[in-house]
Amino acid sequence: MMQLDLKDVSTHYGTSHILFDVSLTVNEGEVVCLLGRNGAGKTTTIRTIMGLVQASSGSITFNGTVLNGLAPHDIARLGIGYVPDDRLIFPDLTVRENLDIAAKQGLDVKVRQWTVERIYELFPILAPLNGNLGGYLSGGEQQMLTIGRTLMGNPSLVLLDEPVEGVAPLVVEELARQFKLLKTMGLTILFAEQNLQFATDISDRAYIIEKGRIRYHGTIEELERNREVQEKYLMI
Ligand SMILES: Nc1ncnc2c1ncn2[C@@H]1O[C@H](COP(=O)(O)OP(=O)(O)OP(=O)(O)O)[C@@H](O)[C@H]1O
Ligand SMILES: [Mg+2]
Repeated sequence: MMQLDLKDVSTHYGTSHILFDVSLTVNEGEVVCLLGRNGAGKTTTIRTIMGLVQASSGSITFNGTVLNGLAPHDIARLGIGYVPDDRLIFPDLTVRENLDIAAKQGLDVKVRQWTVERIYELFPILAPLNGNLGGYLSGGEQQMLTIGRTLMGNPSLVLLDEPVEGVAPLVVEELARQFKLLKTMGLTILFAEQNLQFATDISDRAYIIEKGRIRYHGTIEELERNREVQEKYLMI
């Protein structure tokens, strides 16, 4: 079984201590959200998992393999996809070229591999834009292309950093539908989010981070019922 496991992870930026003993687990087939306000440590947590910043203590394992000390490309090769918060597409390449250059054989050959055509089935908006340059896409289209690029690497776990931030409400609804579809396809998802509504719509479980510490975790139904926790850690 696939599993991502963080145990007592601390992370520093230089001399600033940012994450304190963060522990979280994502099991195969789950959609898990990491909720928290601005500056809570969501991006740092995801970047620490991806090896973009090194944990100063604690352990990170993926299917039993220790990720501490590995380079980001080695972590990606183990089957972890990453959708950063800044929509990394190539503006001077077409939509199809952006997808094609991200193609990479998945580790599990039994799983159906992603193709550009399958990405267009998942994100129908992108199909007619096939020959358009990435730089001319709307924010929502760029976000779908960014997710599509990550899927082309055939990951088994995807980490997404605030996937609906700055995206129009209608596109948020569409992305929620597409996330649910990805879950039915067997993809495991961990995503950072501030939008409680989007998170509750698609997640199985939630963790809340504040000032670099995990303050709460539970099922999404438990969090939906817990107004006190919502007000304490999520309302602005
Ligand atoms: N490169 C850096 N150097 C020093 N401090 C940093 C750096 N990046 C982030 N921080 C600090 O680390 C803390 C956590 O930031 P992080 O970006 O992880 O939060 P976040 O939950 O993703 O916030 P946001 O909702 O704004 O994206 C913040 O106090 C931030 O100022
Ligand atoms: Mg962030």
